[in-house]
Amino acid sequence: MEQRVLEKGQSLRELFGEEIDELLSHYPDKRSAVLPLLWLAQEHDGWISDRRVAEIAHILELDPTEVRGVGGFYHLFYFHPIGEHTIRVCDDVMCALKGADDLLDHVCDKLDVEAGETTDDGEFTVERTGWCIAACAKAPAVLIDDVYFGPIDQDQLDEMIQRLRDGWQPETKDGVNVGLVEEMAPEPSEA
Ligand code: FES
Repeated sequence: MEQRVLEKGQSLRELFGEEIDELLSHYPDKRSAVLPLLWLAQEHDGWISDRRVAEIAHILELDPTEVRGVGGFYHLFYFHPIGEHTIRVCDDVMCALKGADDLLDHVCDKLDVEAGETTDDGEFTVERTGWCIAACAKAPAVLIDDVYFGPIDQDQLDEMIQRLRDGWQPETKDGVNVGLVEEMAPEPSEA
């Protein structure tokens, strides 16, 4: 949770000055860096506040409404606080056929939330994706934080929730999202 607390007075420039300059150097028009800067802010804070939108707008010499408008087009940017971990259950056709609704109901019951809500302790946000997460061959699939897992059943999801509570962080390997393959599937003995 610590990285999700906005440090009063610390701007993105103060936090990531060199990284921002490096990012901007990749684009002939700096307004093109709006998505990476939004991602940088969300990676640090866990979500994107109005203050961060204003900072990004200032850096890129844009109006804040332009920054907000671009970011609002993408499902994975959050402009409101969310939980430390996100559990997104894919509910598109293939996953729906493989029991996504039951999986979503299960995790909502377990965490005592409705889809789209965050647990009272701020640890988990549960969502239905509303779109295919491109893991149909592994349906039913979920995104835990930003890592794919599937096929996954209710017991495995319970295990992963416990792992998350114990401090586990889903990861990619070598920058590649390999959550689809079996070695990334939860194995209780590996915890
Ligand atoms: S429908 Fe769920 S991954 Fe494609």
